[in-house]
Amino acid sequence: MDTTPEDPSQMPTEHRVALLSRSDRPFHVILAQQFDRELIQTLCRLAERVRAIAETRQGANFLRTLLSHKRAMLYFTQPSTRTFLSFAAACQVIGLSNNEVRDSSTSSEVKGESEEDTIHVLSQYFDVIIMRHPGEGFAELMAHRLNQMRRSIPIINGGSGKDQHPTQALLDIYTLHRCFSRLGSDGMIHQFEDNPFAGKTIAFVGDLLRGRTVRSLVYLLCRYPGVRLLFVAPDELQIQEDILEYAQRYNITHECPSSLPSVISECDAVYMTRLQDEHDTAGESKAIDYDRFRLDLDMKDKFKPHLAILHPLPRRNELDVRLDTDPRAKYWEQVRNGMWARAALLAYVFNVDAAIIDHHQSHYSY
Ligand code: NCD
Repeated sequence: MDTTPEDPSQMPTEHRVALLSRSDRPFHVILAQQFDRELIQTLCRLAERVRAIAETRQGANFLRTLLSHKRAMLYFTQPSTRTFLSFAAACQVIGLSNNEVRDSSTSSEVKGESEEDTIHVLSQYFDVIIMRHPGEGFAELMAHRLNQMRRSIPIINGGSGKDQHPTQALLDIYTLHRCFSRLGSDGMIHQFEDNPFAGKTIAFVGDLLRGRTVRSLVYLLCRYPGVRLLFVAPDELQIQEDILEYAQRYNITHECPSSLPSVISECDAVYMTRLQDEHDTAGESKAIDYDRFRLDLDMKDKFKPHLAILHPLPRRNELDVRLDTDPRAKYWEQVRNGMWARAALLAYVFNVDAAIIDHHQSHYSY
């Protein structure tokens, strides 16, 4: 019996989250709202463990046995370098073999096959589909469709139109956790704080209207009472009302300052984003003065000593390359953190997290 409405995005969020879960854990990973604080913490800890274990040859070999009986399909029909390679590398870490479709013009879709049929076919060969797609609700719709099939496999959202990018948000929050925690001499977090974001000010800067990474990360940060969010964007590209209402509902202090220089000295983290002009319908971005939303070396004197500078990348000129070697620039680490966070997430979805924890406990003292 088909009980799923045509457009799942019209359902209440709790219902959507429930339909994406099995036995109280995400089966499909589509929405950042699926991650509560406990799950974020579980996954960040798991990412730290994977990272520590992968350091030795023996550990890396152990990790590669975990999912060596499973196959992943990377179905990426929208441009991607980092997310695609990050998932590919994450699959390698935990032994998931993987194949890719990166251009639907090379698939049977040119013979008139629907994308939905393509997904059904892929679900017969593979054990998980990691998907980047220009359509906002497509991954979620496919998750519901697969739920109704005899063979149902997880779908992981690697970026859905302008809407969400939950695994980027996961790696971003993992990066922020690492920035705001005390690391041991081995560079690992030994003691996870429950809420390292209380009392911290985090600024999102740039094209907040169309940046899906920002939308997803705000959903995660709203799980941390006491965090203060600043949305610094041109008027035309300010974050959407639904996100502000979400922050309001969670009692998260938020403001929309008009310029970055006026608030940079208050920031503990700044999350820069590029102009998303591929979403323009008639070149409207050209009229926007984006230079005012640039993080420049000249502002360095105003930075807090422990400011964390993040960017999901790719960047254009909104982030001064002369900051690249500043210890506060965390965007390269962010890329690497993504590989560990995604390996942890895949391990969790496939229920091999307990084996990782056991291995870590028997080989490490913390
Ligand atoms: C982002 C994306 O695709 O949304 N990139 C990424 O996944 N790291 C950000 C962007 O394209 O600007």
